[in-house]
Amino acid sequence: MTDVVHLDGITKRFPGVVANDDVTLRVEEGSVHALLGENGAGKTTLMNVLYGLYRPTEGRVVVDGRERQFDSPRDAIDTGVGMIHQHFMLVDPMTVTENITLGNEPRKWFGMAVDREGAREEVQALSRRYGFSVDPDARIEDVSVGVQQRVEILKALYRGAEVLILDEPTAVLTPQEVEDLFEVFDELTAEGKTIIFITHKLGEAMAAADDITVLRNGRNVGTVPASETTREELAELMVGRKVLMDVEKADREPGSDVLTVDGVGVTDDRGVTVVDDVSFRVREGEVFGVAGVDGNGQTELVEAITGLRDPSTGRVAFGSEDVTDWSRRRRIDAGLAYIPEDRQERGLVMDFDLVENGLLGSQHTEAFASGGRIDWLHTREHAETIIEEYDVRPPDATARSASLSGGNQQKFIVGREFERDPSLLVATHPTRGVDIGSTEFIHDRLLDLRDDGVAVLLVSSKLEEVQSLADRLAVMYEGELMAVVDPDDVTDEELGLLMAGEHPDRELPSRAMNAGDAVVDTATDGGGGVS
Ligand SMILES: Nc1ncnc2c1ncn2[C@@H]1O[C@H](COP(=O)(O)OP(=O)(O)O)[C@@H](O)[C@H]1O
Ligand SMILES: [Mg+2]
Repeated sequence: MTDVVHLDGITKRFPGVVANDDVTLRVEEGSVHALLGENGAGKTTLMNVLYGLYRPTEGRVVVDGRERQFDSPRDAIDTGVGMIHQHFMLVDPMTVTENITLGNEPRKWFGMAVDREGAREEVQALSRRYGFSVDPDARIEDVSVGVQQRVEILKALYRGAEVLILDEPTAVLTPQEVEDLFEVFDELTAEGKTIIFITHKLGEAMAAADDITVLRNGRNVGTVPASETTREELAELMVGRKVLMDVEKADREPGSDVLTVDGVGVTDDRGVTVVDDVSFRVREGEVFGVAGVDGNGQTELVEAITGLRDPSTGRVAFGSEDVTDWSRRRRIDAGLAYIPEDRQERGLVMDFDLVENGLLGSQHTEAFASGGRIDWLHTREHAETIIEEYDVRPPDATARSASLSGGNQQKFIVGREFERDPSLLVATHPTRGVDIGSTEFIHDRLLDLRDDGVAVLLVSSKLEEVQSLADRLAVMYEGELMAVVDPDDVTDEELGLLMAGEHPDRELPSRAMNAGDAVVDTATDGGGGVS
């Protein structure tokens, strides 16, 4: 067993912050090593040190048994260390081949011209060797995020990487693409490459890694073989205290209908039906979960409910009020809170500070404005309350949203929406990109709202999340609701089949619905397409 990478006592200080504190990390050649930790734990910084982007304040970087002084990524790449950052660095209008060979193109005519055909062939050969099906001639802007990630990997391999660092590579992928990526890891390690991947999802570390190193507050708090640890142990290492991995949900009788979605269809900008005759309702004090692979119409369905998009058929009602033609603002005034899928587009104004962002959606209300003037003192206190209660870091209401990490942006949005005192909460991917300590907190608060009588529509592609929180669970596939089931009685396999558009063999257990539940009946029996 040889350690291809040995970080020895690395400390990295930024003004006012110790991002890495005497971290020692050994990575075995040919292994997959997960670097696990919550947001801000120091994972990216540590890998940037290994990649030559940062000089360590103290400590040694040893690669292949020799101490190295990397002054830039160029030095790291020359030593066989490649890194794929969270934000890809590809050039959109260029082809896959051009991106991979950029700056290192094979030449012909004694170096006077780029050998395009040679480049293309090399890329194709490389792609085949690792079982990637990547079209060398496709333009980056035309391929999926999953393929773009493969292009980044190929680019590193093309430059001779033996050690590949990937920073949160699964954050942008669908569950299926995540599986594919982990298979790619296997292909690469079979060829002797070493993978270090950063994640804050302990399930992924368990699934894909040979060894797992947990960072907390800049320190290495433990390296364990994946086969010898448990989710509970990892969670405790990450958070520094015991974490309840199971959500505890009290029984609660739902009340009257808060949201009714009746035969809603949505046509997208290209005229394609993306939501097809969907009906369900959400009652007081219940969580209605919608599971499904991203891109099966969940986004458009939620937009139709929140007033961001006009449905092409059907109607949406809040209580007994038909709101189909209502503006978004009017819906918010009627008690709607909304955690959007895209926090940077819809959740926050990135250039605004947290004081201003805390006001979004409430700027015209009595509590925040009177006589046409914003009450800034109250607004600021409001933002500070959210920051404190939802543990937003840094705790500075005057910080611009753009300066916060994704997880902290999300905590702020969740806090703002939860504090609206809603009667209906529409939450899409409420914990995406959020660390487990905060996820637990958001889940608990969401259930508190439910226990207080709020109707919650929860859309998430994390099966575990919807299954544990929902009182009733629907699965969406190609724009249709496949079924409404009892989340406690349905198996993972049955859910997987529904998510793939198939029906399980046995009759699915659907949770008791009150008598005369006509709308839900159409969802489970007729309109939703359940046989
Ligand atoms: N360039 C930088 N300047 C100042 N502080 C930084 C810089 N990069 C990271 N930090 C701080 O260092 C800590 C660790 O950050 P990071 O390595 O990005 O964590 P992780 O990747 O685990 O989320 C955080 O407190 C972060 O704010
Ligand atoms: Mg990071």
